[in-house]
Amino acid sequence: MAFGISPHVSWIGKVDWEIRAFHGEEFSTHRGSTYNSYLIRDGKNVVVDTVWTPFAGEFVRNLAREIPLESIDAVIANHGEADHSGGLPELMRALRPQTPVYCTANAVKSLKGHYHADWNFQVVKTGDRLNLGSRELVFVEMPMLHWPDSLAEYLTGDKVLLSNDAFGQHLASEVMYNDLVDQAELYQECIKYFANILTPFSKQAEKKLSEVEGLGLDIDFICPSHGVIWHKDPLQIVRKYHEWAAAYREHQATVAYDSMWGGTRKMAEAIAQGLRDGDPSLAVKLYNVARSDRSDVITEIFRSKALVIGCPTVTRGLLYSIAGLLEEIKGLKFQAKVGAGFGAYGWSGESPKIITDRLAEAGFEIAGEAPKVMWSPDDEALAACRAYGKELAARLRS
Ligand code: FEO
Repeated sequence: MAFGISPHVSWIGKVDWEIRAFHGEEFSTHRGSTYNSYLIRDGKNVVVDTVWTPFAGEFVRNLAREIPLESIDAVIANHGEADHSGGLPELMRALRPQTPVYCTANAVKSLKGHYHADWNFQVVKTGDRLNLGSRELVFVEMPMLHWPDSLAEYLTGDKVLLSNDAFGQHLASEVMYNDLVDQAELYQECIKYFANILTPFSKQAEKKLSEVEGLGLDIDFICPSHGVIWHKDPLQIVRKYHEWAAAYREHQATVAYDSMWGGTRKMAEAIAQGLRDGDPSLAVKLYNVARSDRSDVITEIFRSKALVIGCPTVTRGLLYSIAGLLEEIKGLKFQAKVGAGFGAYGWSGESPKIITDRLAEAGFEIAGEAPKVMWSPDDEALAACRAYGKELAARLRS
């Protein structure tokens, strides 16, 4: 379903209605996704990015219906990850020999590493220009947004920024513009994408956003490589990225736990009750991590000022679900959040300290001493949990 975006740019990608997990099983995609590829038609004709590998054949066949393949003069590979480069081998076999592939120096490494092909790579850097006839492409390297190889480009005249993964979202849709889709769904997918993928690179993102704004480009369209095209007030997503990259916090706390026989669950519920009692204006999220979608939990942690994690002690350690969550949190490098560990135990009781230590290693400020209960919590222990929640709420208010 190719469609025109601006006088010289068309979308030639693939909507994937079925995909429910990305990066293997790491990242949930409840609403599907799209792999956005673009065709620029001018004095020179250029394909920008391709699609995920399983759709490579369909992509090249559809492209051939849009334009004779022998009239394509160049390909731009903004990023080596397979959801955008997966169609390159089939495309390059179909194009004229020695068709140039414009990309960053790091993308030469990632593309050669993935495909072991020696295409006619043309390395570009920030500020380099490619004259297409009536228009020019201006390249901007986007390192760590979100790979070292990432690249974006701006098409003069049409005022289109082709941003690759930056500003994208996993959202399959029949309509491909930001103002035509459900706004709550759109922003939920945008913040989830940032929280789970871009948070560790917030500082680089902030610097790059300022650099791109400093170029003073007049932008009518931001065309990312996933999800909808930003056309109505396209810079709204750039403003959101500024907010999210700056130690983002809403007035929210998350209680995340796992439980074997319900003791830690009762503690979690009592802490959540205390948080609510302490500040009714505080949004409180409560998750059994083993029974929840991890990418959604990470999104709520990203939005929170505080994270309290509960786990029983098992063989002097943690349950699998909580250990995995803590590993992910360490990599995401959240900023300006407080946290602590709690839990019920029967024998040795190490889990709250292990959690608290790991949160400290991950950059969390430790929020006092959270409750630790031997066997099942009684009324007194649950009252202590509520009191802890209340104290934490007071701290978050200040
Ligand atoms: Fe980093 Fe959409 O791939």
